[in-house]
Amino acid sequence: IKIGVLISGGGTNLQCLIDGIKSGYINGEIKLVMSNKKDAYGLKRAEKEGIEALYIDRKSFGSEEEYNRKVIETFKNREIDLVVLAGYLRVLSKEFVREYSGRIINIHPSLIPSFCGKGYYGEKVHKEVLRYGVKVTGATVHFVDEGTDTGPIILQRTVEVKEQDTVETLKDRVLEVEHEILVEAVKLFCDRKIKLEDRKVTILR
Ligand code: GRF
Repeated sequence: IKIGVLISGGGTNLQCLIDGIKSGYINGEIKLVMSNKKDAYGLKRAEKEGIEALYIDRKSFGSEEEYNRKVIETFKNREIDLVVLAGYLRVLSKEFVREYSGRIINIHPSLIPSFCGKGYYGEKVHKEVLRYGVKVTGATVHFVDEGTDTGPIILQRTVEVKEQDTVETLKDRVLEVEHEILVEAVKLFCDRKIKLEDRKVTILR
């Protein structure tokens, strides 16, 4: 399975995929890492592994659609089978989602459908979790559909919210779980153990 990864930041989720492939746990190959942020450290992580790392500047395209068409074309040229959004902070165009329907996986740092949707990314998620006072949060891996954080759920794992938690401590604890379930979901996909039917996911163990 040829994997294309889209990132916007530090790329710790990407790093876990790289490590999971190197250890033989994930039966796939990351052909390309692309970012909409020139200084995304994840691009350096890819370069260090000899993986093609591309920065595509959104501003050099007239519209979101044209930018997405460039991304799609870049993935198609490398025969990408699976697109992973690992800390990618742009919304994909409808055309992109249609092109790769059922083959785009996203990791979100909460238990969807809580604390997700427009504007809920990164630390904002954990700030709202603490503000609301929920006792349990977590992470979700899901297929991407035309909405934001609304696609069929693949895996979720809970994280306890502790009394003294700050955004920082909570973010770090959730990130650990993100790493675990993203690696697991990509492994299952590469092992063809994820069945998607009428928006419902079944894991074949
Ligand atoms: C984190 O906030 C994570 O919750 C979300 O993307 C952000 C960066 O992750 N998935 P990464 O370290 O760039 O993988």
